[in-house]
Amino acid sequence: MKLLIVNGPNLNMLGIREPDIYGRQTYADLCEWVRSVCRREDIECEIVQSNHEGALVDAIQGAYGVCDGIVINPAAYTHTSVAILDALKAVALPAVEVHLSDVSAREPFRQISYAGMACVKTIAGKGFDGYEEAIYYLKSQLKSR
Ligand code: DQA
Repeated sequence: MKLLIVNGPNLNMLGIREPDIYGRQTYADLCEWVRSVCRREDIECEIVQSNHEGALVDAIQGAYGVCDGIVINPAAYTHTSVAILDALKAVALPAVEVHLSDVSAREPFRQISYAGMACVKTIAGKGFDGYEEAIYYLKSQLKSR
């Protein structure tokens, strides 16, 4: 089983950006956490982060025929990107949307998620643990296929 983990803009600034919202752990810490969860669950993973919408679209397209599922935190592109929504629909892999913060309790402009329209589940407000939950969820879904 192989999962693509996609992280959008500014997540590379974790630990520096708005620590009251996103915490003090760094992006490297997040990658290590995701890798440790995947190792424990015997899942192969590829982790991609980009600040560029097209690069995220390319990464999602690249998962076609290669990965079994996608965990995606599109960050700010969550609320704007039809291109990422269309890419998720195009590859039609089971995808779980993750947000570190509880977007439902934040600004009105964060209340729409385009990417989420192509995801089987959304997990928000659980910090790094949200990625673990997403990986578990996809594993259970993929195993029962
Ligand atoms: C985020 C929430 C988004 O609204 C925001 O633009 C981000 C991070 C989160 O993980 O909580 O960059 O996706």
